[in-house]
Amino acid sequence: MNIQTVEIQQGLWYLGVNDRQTEFFENMWPLPNGVAYNAYLIQSEKTCLIDTVRVNKADAFIESLKRVMGDRTLDYLVIQHMEPDHSGALRLVLELYPDVHLIGNRKTGEMLHDYLEIGNENFREVKTGDTLDLGDRTLEFVQTPMVHWPESMVSYDRAHKTLFSQDIFGGFGTVDGGIFDDEVHYDARYEEYRRYYTNIVGKYSMMARKSIGQVKELDIEMICPVHGYVWRKNPKRIIEDYSNWANYKVKDGVVIAFGSMYGNTEVMADHLARYLAEEGVRSIEIFDVSKTHPSYILSNAWEKRGLILGSCTYNNSVYPNMHRLLHILEMNKLENHVLGVFGSYGWSGGAVKELKAFSERGKFDVCETMVEAKGTMHLKEEELLRQLAKEMADKLRAAEK
Ligand code: FEO
Repeated sequence: MNIQTVEIQQGLWYLGVNDRQTEFFENMWPLPNGVAYNAYLIQSEKTCLIDTVRVNKADAFIESLKRVMGDRTLDYLVIQHMEPDHSGALRLVLELYPDVHLIGNRKTGEMLHDYLEIGNENFREVKTGDTLDLGDRTLEFVQTPMVHWPESMVSYDRAHKTLFSQDIFGGFGTVDGGIFDDEVHYDARYEEYRRYYTNIVGKYSMMARKSIGQVKELDIEMICPVHGYVWRKNPKRIIEDYSNWANYKVKDGVVIAFGSMYGNTEVMADHLARYLAEEGVRSIEIFDVSKTHPSYILSNAWEKRGLILGSCTYNNSVYPNMHRLLHILEMNKLENHVLGVFGSYGWSGGAVKELKAFSERGKFDVCETMVEAKGTMHLKEEELLRQLAKEMADKLRAAEK
């Protein structure tokens, strides 16, 4: 049975499932380490389930819910987020406990109708500041629109200083035995958390900053997200990481992403990296857009101040795999970066022109030197790549002052 039921506080149960079968989150983002869907059950004078799980794991989830609930009936189901990775088992919960009261905000009510054709009979609408009295626990609701969907909200149990944070403070990766942050090595999963944030929430960083700001005001001893670990020893760590990502806090270094068919653009990327190293840049990572999924490139680029994009020309245009990366970077609103571009072409250009257009659309500090080789790189392009590396290094140094 692929579920973990653990009483994480007296009367509070973690009901988490691991999904190692789904290859892509949202059918797009690779899941080499799987993902966990977490729900939480409060058993006080009243019983209250907070969120459910994705439908592919619903059977195991319902069995565990029944086992923990025993003869009791479910009074409330708080729907913090309607995305199907959390609302997938909602119908089954309703079948099991037809009198349960559904708790959500106005948008949740609309989505219950739109996605699941569930009417408003048992639905109680709440908004920020409203509370739900369960006995020894009272939940206070805070709406966090667009982190991740418009109906997203979190629930705070003031007496137990516990925050049920839905997607916020979650990450990719299954929960392999260790549920709490003090039972695992979070640093080993740090990059998967950052990849989750940058690709799933990154676009909404402005709203995330607001939500994190609201959460920071609360006295928190435990954070219970719907993906990944429960934070009880050091919740400040995940709040800080999320805060850094949402504020586009960058470190020294450069990501070079290139698209190359026969190696002519790749060799430019390698030369550029060497010149950057000679200029004193110490953290340089090169990614081949044909080999590395853009979610990893975005995630790595998010935290490095420098980004350099290089593309061969394909059918008078930027290389298709680079085009995909550009779309992902643009969609997720990468900001606060120094950007450089280069590329190559065979008989008529196209790639560098499109990279230049991309650089002009975003909020970047753009390096003036743009290098374009006809065929393979020659001495002239070598010199221009040195110039681009110097310009990038100078801008990085200036930004760090
Ligand atoms: Fe984990 Fe936005 O759903």
